[in-house]
Parts: sequence; structure tokens; C-alpha cells
Amino acid sequence: MKTKVLMVCLGNICRSPLAEGILKSKVDSNKVEVASAGTGGWHVGELPDPRSISIAKKHGLDITDQRGKKFSTYDFEIYDHIFVMDNSNFRDVIQLAQNETEKQKVQLILDEIFPGENVDVPDPYYGGDFGFENVFQMLNDACEKIAQRL
Ligand code: 4NP
Repeated sequence: MKTKVLMVCLGNICRSPLAEGILKSKVDSNKVEVASAGTGGWHVGELPDPRSISIAKKHGLDITDQRGKKFSTYDFEIYDHIFVMDNSNFRDVIQLAQNETEKQKVQLILDEIFPGENVDVPDPYYGGDFGFENVFQMLNDACEKIAQRL
């Protein structure tokens, strides 16, 4: 059976689509399934942010097949690992968990490279283009670790 991974941020248009695209590029799609979602529903059905599309493209990844989805409690049943981008996403997702098994699936993605330091992937939505390159590099490092482990 495939290992199923869900990347979660707030809007599902900036950070988690990048995380999804990056991890997909590092794993065997026959063994690992990767998706993403947002805790908020404002961008459901939309393409990722043009700045995320552009930074992904610069690094050789096409994320234009992705569309915004809202995280749901049902995702706890589907996914084995739920990686959240920041502490606020962590609280929002944990609040929806119904038991300890579901809670155990949730992890801050940057715990992969800064274990126990509670580091957030900064939300680049209101920032400039540099923020997106920065986010890409952080997610690339974290996804490299995740891919090695899966
Ligand atoms: P993301 O960034 O959580 O990395 O997708 C955001 C995108 C949109 C909004 C917030 C954060 N928004 O409020 O619409």
C-alpha cells in the first residue's frame, strides 16, 4: 500500500503546493502519494499563487496541475503523515483531530531539519518574490529528509 502524505498551510496556494510539488519530485509515485490542502477555504478550486508557480518553474517543477482544497477531518483517515507549515496550522489541524492516533500524524515540516525548535515556514503571501525563494529552499531541505525516510 502507498504511503500517503498531506502538506497543509493556510490558503493552499503558496507554501503547501510548493511542498507537494517538491516532495513529489523526490519520491517514487508508485510508493508515495502526495497532496496538499489549506485550513482555510478561500482558494478552493484555484491554481497555486503565480509566485509559487513561478519559483517552482525556476527549479524545474510544474505545479499547475494543482487546485486549492480545504483540509477536512476525513483527511486524518486518508493520510499517514500530515506536514503543517507553521504553528498556527498545527493548532488548527490538531483541533480537528479526534484521537491520539490522528494527532500523532501531524508534524511541523521544519521539524525535519530543525528538530524540536518549533520553526515556521514563513507565510510569503504578503511579501515579495524573495520570500518565495526562501520558502522553496526550506521546503526543499525538509522534503529531502522526508523522502529519505519514507
Ligand atoms: P499559504 O499563504 O497559506 O502559504 O497558501 C496564504 C495564501 C492566502 C491567504 C493566506 C495565506 N489568504 O488569506 O487568502
